[in-house]
Amino acid sequence: MKFPEDFLWGGAIAANQVEGAVNAGGKGLSTSDLLPRGILQPHEKPDQKGPNIKDVAIDFYHRFPEDIALLAGMGFTCLRMSIAWSRIFPQGDESEPCEAGLAFYDRVFAELEKYGIQPFVTLSHYEMPYGLVEKYGGWANRRLIGFFERYAEVVFQRYSRQVKLWLTFNEINMSLHAPFTGVGLAEEATEQQIYQAIHHQLLASARVVRLCHATITGAKIGNMLLGAIAYPLSCHPDDVIATMLENNKWLFFGDVQVRGRYPGYMCRYFRENNIDLEMEVGDLAELADASVDFISFSYYASLCASADSSRKEVGNIVAGVPNPHLAKSEWGWQIDPKGIRYLLNVLYDRYQKPLFVVENGLGASDVIDDNGQIKDDYRIAYLNDHLLQVAEALADGVEIIGYTSWGPIDLVSNSTAEMSKRYGFIYVDRNDDGSGTMRRIKKKSYYWYKEVIGSRGGALRNLS
Ligand code: BG6
Repeated sequence: MKFPEDFLWGGAIAANQVEGAVNAGGKGLSTSDLLPRGILQPHEKPDQKGPNIKDVAIDFYHRFPEDIALLAGMGFTCLRMSIAWSRIFPQGDESEPCEAGLAFYDRVFAELEKYGIQPFVTLSHYEMPYGLVEKYGGWANRRLIGFFERYAEVVFQRYSRQVKLWLTFNEINMSLHAPFTGVGLAEEATEQQIYQAIHHQLLASARVVRLCHATITGAKIGNMLLGAIAYPLSCHPDDVIATMLENNKWLFFGDVQVRGRYPGYMCRYFRENNIDLEMEVGDLAELADASVDFISFSYYASLCASADSSRKEVGNIVAGVPNPHLAKSEWGWQIDPKGIRYLLNVLYDRYQKPLFVVENGLGASDVIDDNGQIKDDYRIAYLNDHLLQVAEALADGVEIIGYTSWGPIDLVSNSTAEMSKRYGFIYVDRNDDGSGTMRRIKKKSYYWYKEVIGSRGGALRNLS
């Protein structure tokens, strides 16, 4: 089985996890700069800000030519990356953008163009200018919609020739679990406040979908969901209903961004939990008129749901009941390749729009052996088995645009802010304490992925 000829192959990175250079080019403080222990821990106040591994990250800001050359060496046709909003609008509410920030991404896109790698850009990947939190209270304030639109307009206009593929908010459903990162609210924010902020973010997303279509000829813009697919822990009807409700929590975002309206199950949830969203006349019409062109998602693990919610444990940001049939990664995330086929089918059945797998991968610690090599067979097995299931979904008739594995070059982990949780085909010699030479080393998986891309999936093998 070969993947389609126009299938996009590559990897995904995020500005705050790779760039470093936190103060370069006039960049403002971002919410991510205040999370030295990862997004599930409380954030620092700016005046208490201590050292943060992301201040330097893997120094992509200065080393991107070398890094892009390495990615090109694997035959990438696509690189998913994000723009740091705070490089373009350092405080978030300026009337003019920061030219140095724009010029940095000009250079990155020019480098990608040299190798024929298509940039695929997320407008907001787990960061926003902290000024918008301090001065306006984050997305709870409706004015954020306008600031985000202005930012999107500037980057759409500037990069209209180079960037034809866009995403609005990374893992937009994650605000329910990490509100500071998602919508700039305090960790103890109430559900009422979080859903109000989410309403504003969904409106902002709808507006920039229309703006993108109006500004860039031939552009496609999608949404991005954390694909937290839940299975019933048992066939007990109560577990089945618990699973339906669990899945509704994240499918709600897709339902608004694709179908253009608040689903009945969500209106019921709001009613029963005394959540009363403030809306303006025209909000619902705006949501109805801005369906995304495609749906993208991250997938690392599936989870189970049970009527007994006390059995939940936290995996990738979302908590779920462990599945007794699955093994766990070193970081406790359950490994379930078949889950990606299931998820692709669920999303395609529901939305009937093309899908894009924009994150998938194994966070693991790597060891450099005496010969200076990194034999990451565990990573190869994980990716191989997931890609085989993507091929199964293609055979099921699901339309899939491409696959970008998470962290093709080692980067700082989002949930724990560690370097030692590595996803890359390329090793970066940097440790959790900030020591290391920053040298880049190709792992065994580098050569494997190159072969997979070169053979359009023909090199995938049944390993499990
Ligand atoms: C996704 C995020 O949740 O998972 C990425 O979009 C993140 O930013 C990735 O890095 C893997 O999670 P972690 O915590 O292992 O970095």
